[in-house]
Amino acid sequence: MATTSRQNLDDAFAAAPDEASFWTGRTFDDFLFRPQKTASQTRRTISVESLLTAEIALDLPIVSSNMDSVTGAEMARAMAMHGGIGVVHRGMSIERQAAEVAVVKRSQSAVIDRPLCLPLGTSVRQARRFTRQHGITGILIETASGSNVLAGLLSNRDTPVHGADEDRLVDEFMTPLSRLVTGAPDISIDEAERLMFEHRIERLPLIDDAHRIQGLITRRDINLNRKQPGASKDSAGHLRCAAAVGARGDYLERAAALLEAGADLLFVDIAHGHSVIMEQAVAGLRGQFGGVPLVCGNVATGAGARFMREIGADAIKVGVGPGRGCRTRLETAAGVPQLQAIREAYLAVGDSVPIVADGGVKTDKDIFLALICGASTVMLGSALSGTDEAPGQVIQDPATHMKKKIYRGMTSPEAVLEALYDSSDSDALDAALDIPPEGQEIQVPYRGSVSSILQRIRGHLQSSVSYGGETTLAAVRAKVLPDPSAFLVPLSAAARIESYER
Ligand code: XMP
Repeated sequence: MATTSRQNLDDAFAAAPDEASFWTGRTFDDFLFRPQKTASQTRRTISVESLLTAEIALDLPIVSSNMDSVTGAEMARAMAMHGGIGVVHRGMSIERQAAEVAVVKRSQSAVIDRPLCLPLGTSVRQARRFTRQHGITGILIETASGSNVLAGLLSNRDTPVHGADEDRLVDEFMTPLSRLVTGAPDISIDEAERLMFEHRIERLPLIDDAHRIQGLITRRDINLNRKQPGASKDSAGHLRCAAAVGARGDYLERAAALLEAGADLLFVDIAHGHSVIMEQAVAGLRGQFGGVPLVCGNVATGAGARFMREIGADAIKVGVGPGRGCRTRLETAAGVPQLQAIREAYLAVGDSVPIVADGGVKTDKDIFLALICGASTVMLGSALSGTDEAPGQVIQDPATHMKKKIYRGMTSPEAVLEALYDSSDSDALDAALDIPPEGQEIQVPYRGSVSSILQRIRGHLQSSVSYGGETTLAAVRAKVLPDPSAFLVPLSAAARIESYER
């Protein structure tokens, strides 16, 4: 027994045996960072860019968790706008998850190249429902369903307010093509903006000579693009969006639908990623979708990280049981303290495959610690929960009038049940009924927009980099990663009280 456990540890820290005692049993609150001399004059210009995969850099190295109380389309859109990325959860039907991805991919790029349309003959009621469902304020009207030939444009302002008009047709209220200002498909953004200003319009449909719809430019998107130069975009200028798949059942069908909807990368997400099931799933995905970027997890050991590299993961998600909604460690005893897990994984794979540190972040300083000990990006669940962009209703406590939202582990009984209601996957049902819950539901305070949280995280990360004596996160990581123990101060119980108790 003793030999086996020793071997496990030696294996984890094989490249640096001295580090074993420094890291074993340690996590975020066990360390402070020793401040370094800085030449930086201002923190605002400090870059915190980092790699999600070898090919995809994030301006803000934050990923929102694929949880049904954290990431749907709205959160994914906000994450990408701020330079991070969101992973749309899979606790819903394939069709719904693909539709959420499509909403993100369609929004806030300079040109929406496959704008949504409704045909002539649609009722006002149907149009209103459709625009609400897709979160848009105007809709292109085509001559017939699927014709893609522009007939007009219906904006919210054109839509009658009276219930009695609900059954009338959009044909009566839209601005017809003959009175619409349109642009050519290859129009420049500057020219489009000039046209929109000149005609005081919010939307510019792009059509070819046969009036076929080739795109749509909105003034709102142009403005948002200007305000957010660091937004995460693909090569065509669309916001990036990731989505989660499982490793069994309908996962290939789900992956196909998500990629068709435009997902930039897939998170293959299972609780125990160091498994034959994961190996088979990655082989299946590679067989069908070739080089699509795959972030695989979760693992918590050096051996697990090496395994992920061997099966071809483009990034490795590290974390077993640190999450706020997790009960895995309590129920199974499985897990590795999160900072130790990050370091073990990094020592195993180095810079060859980026690491996503997943779970356990309670304060912003944890993000910096994760990044300088081995992670390239950090996944957040509870830290982003309770916000407007997180799915779920705001609830008000009748006694205290405090506003709250639900945050829950994806294997909590509530999340599992809801996912099953919305899924046609009978394998998922069997699997869920097989396993007792390892997640829990809690109420978190309502916190308004996630934008202010992401801005705060960026600011604190910039300050941390400044204390690190550098002007980029990449430079601090390059300096610290070879030996973080030279930069970290282990804390005594008294030092922890001095540092964290307020
Ligand atoms: P934080 O601490 O950021 O953690 O809230 C988010 C991460 O928690 C994981 N997660 C779970 N882990 N049972 C678990 O053991 C669950 O039901 C569960 N749901 C989410 C997940 O990795 C997430 O990103």
